[in-house]
Amino acid sequence: MTTRHTHAIHVQGLKKSFKELRVLRGVDLTVARGGIFALLGSNGAGKTTVVKILATLLKADAGTARVNGFDVATQAPDVRASISLTGQFAAVDEILSGRENLVLIARLRHLGNPGKIADDLLARFSLTDAGGRKVATYSGGMRRRLDLAMSLIGDPAVVFLDEPTTGLDPQARVEVWHAVKELAGRGTTVLLTTQYLDEAEQLADRIAILHQGRIIVEGTLAELKRLLPPAEVEYVEKQPTLEDVFLTLVGPKT
Ligand SMILES: Nc1ncnc2c1ncn2[C@@H]1O[C@H](COP(=O)(O)OP(=O)(O)O)[C@@H](O)[C@H]1O
Ligand SMILES: [Mg+2]
Repeated sequence: MTTRHTHAIHVQGLKKSFKELRVLRGVDLTVARGGIFALLGSNGAGKTTVVKILATLLKADAGTARVNGFDVATQAPDVRASISLTGQFAAVDEILSGRENLVLIARLRHLGNPGKIADDLLARFSLTDAGGRKVATYSGGMRRRLDLAMSLIGDPAVVFLDEPTTGLDPQARVEVWHAVKELAGRGTTVLLTTQYLDEAEQLADRIAILHQGRIIVEGTLAELKRLLPPAEVEYVEKQPTLEDVFLTLVGPKT
């Protein structure tokens, strides 16, 4: 089935509460195909809740969500066949080598020539030299890169990366940023959640800010910056940073 004409993600009026806690209060979001889309929000804003609903792991209370043209509530198997989900904790097997992890997933998905798939992905994510080593010996950044490589097996239309660099040291974060760019470079749509402004600034083609249960702003980095007038400084005109925009819209940390 071709669903090329549809958006990668289309969400309308999405609501979700946990008992009294109204986490999502009417989320509207449209993500076009291709590129990296960042869902930016503070800790506890509801980013993971959105991703879980889109990945069919959690049911919304109200609203609709379509992924790759399929409704998450009524076409869950089609949605699952269209996506991969990578969370904060790498889902790799420590005992196996990086290459064996990749081969295993390719086999589980009944793909032809799992060895070639594994070798191609190791090369794409700069893991060829480490490919034969047990994952237990990998650094945090290498594990996360292997996790990203695994998320591409089977060529999903939409890849969800939920806080891909949380808990990593600065050097590993930069490695993972390169890997995310590589991942998105071949037409895959990436929805990335992050609480880091610099991460959204570095990676995203478009950014949506989730705050108090709603998307309060969405656009390119340049569009978001235009929401604020340039700060007048005596000798130079300083452009607002994403941090200025975010803090103006969301307010200081309470
Ligand atoms: N299963 C759950 N039961 C109760 N509360 C939850 C559950 N999942 C998330 N929450 C709460 O919902 C809010 C949003 O959580 P989450 O979507 O994980 O935020 P984020 O990913 O943006 O940090 C938080 O206050 C969190 O504690
Ligand atoms: Mg989260």
